[in-house]
Amino acid sequence: MTIRAVVQGVGHYLPERIVPNAEFETFLDTTDEWIRTRSGIERRHFAAEGETTSDMGATAATRALENAGLTPDDIDAVVVATSTPDLTFPSVATMIQEKIGMTGGFGFDVQAVCAGFIFALTNANALILSGQAKRVLVIGAETFSRIMDWEDRATCVLFGDGAGALVLAAEDGNGDAADRGILSSDLNSDGRYRDMLYVDGGVSTTGQAGKLRMQGNLLFRQAVEKLAATAHKALEKVGIKDNEVDWIVPHQANIRIIQGTAKKMGLPMDNVIVTVQDHGNTSAASIPLALAVGVERGQIKKGDLLVAEAIGGGLAWGAVVLRW
Ligand code: UT7
Repeated sequence: MTIRAVVQGVGHYLPERIVPNAEFETFLDTTDEWIRTRSGIERRHFAAEGETTSDMGATAATRALENAGLTPDDIDAVVVATSTPDLTFPSVATMIQEKIGMTGGFGFDVQAVCAGFIFALTNANALILSGQAKRVLVIGAETFSRIMDWEDRATCVLFGDGAGALVLAAEDGNGDAADRGILSSDLNSDGRYRDMLYVDGGVSTTGQAGKLRMQGNLLFRQAVEKLAATAHKALEKVGIKDNEVDWIVPHQANIRIIQGTAKKMGLPMDNVIVTVQDHGNTSAASIPLALAVGVERGQIKKGDLLVAEAIGGGLAWGAVVLRW
């Protein structure tokens, strides 16, 4: 017998306000056509004034609990992936605990920018496998609209806000790739690339939150190579070939990166969950949002084999293989 961290519920939240590409044409030297063709993005959601990362994460978490048929009392730990916390501290995880009425267990945040959900899932899996927790809420929640430079057309048209959540629970498995749950993961980071994507402020430097800066074309060149390699490494650990997966669930930054990675893995776009057109890049929220939407659309079904992969600031990148 092997313990596996199995998905028991999924939920998501997108803010009410939808911003189409055309809205950027009113105050920036850009076009709907440029944004669509270069990134695949058509619209994104922006949080309302006063709406925070923990508000969105709490709603996604509540929906994931409902989906799992569980209550906050059933949960031992909350792991939140975010780079846009409500406050420098306390953690968004503890704020979500309070908002959903969870008074037991523990919570903490994980910060690996756009790869955050992959790192959070890997941590949650480790908590379950080590016996520290039986049921874990894993949440990705972001308000990137709050760190945009609205004069920088190369970045502010790309990002959006939202949250997604999974409930993972310990179940017995046979220890092979036919098991449901998290089967493997691969994590990487390399600080030499930090200038490709960063925020130009912080507690111990400027004392301000700062704005996002990105050398998009340099990052683009790293992305396909690193994403295909990390997905391959994670799949290799469980003896599964790249083109044997049912679904690639990629970080939703750019349709051209998503297509390039699928091609490198030898899979058609029919096997890829794509939400970038509707959400933009929601950083750590993008994979749980894609999982939730993939289930809602009837694409992802119980027993399907998934590989989720992401890259972002750090650079930090990685992949998780799981059977739904
Ligand atoms: O989530 C973390 C991971 N993030 C990523 O993976 C993002 C990776 N990078 C990308 O997705 C792409 O590089 C972008 C979508 C950001 C940009 O696409 P690109 O094809 O790499 O374009 P570029 O940055 O090389 O810029 C091409 C041109 C430039 O003009 P010149 O120098 O050729 O005259 C830009 O100034 O497009 C111009 N440009 C724009 N034009 C209209 C940049 N932003 C815009 C804009 N509207 N919004």
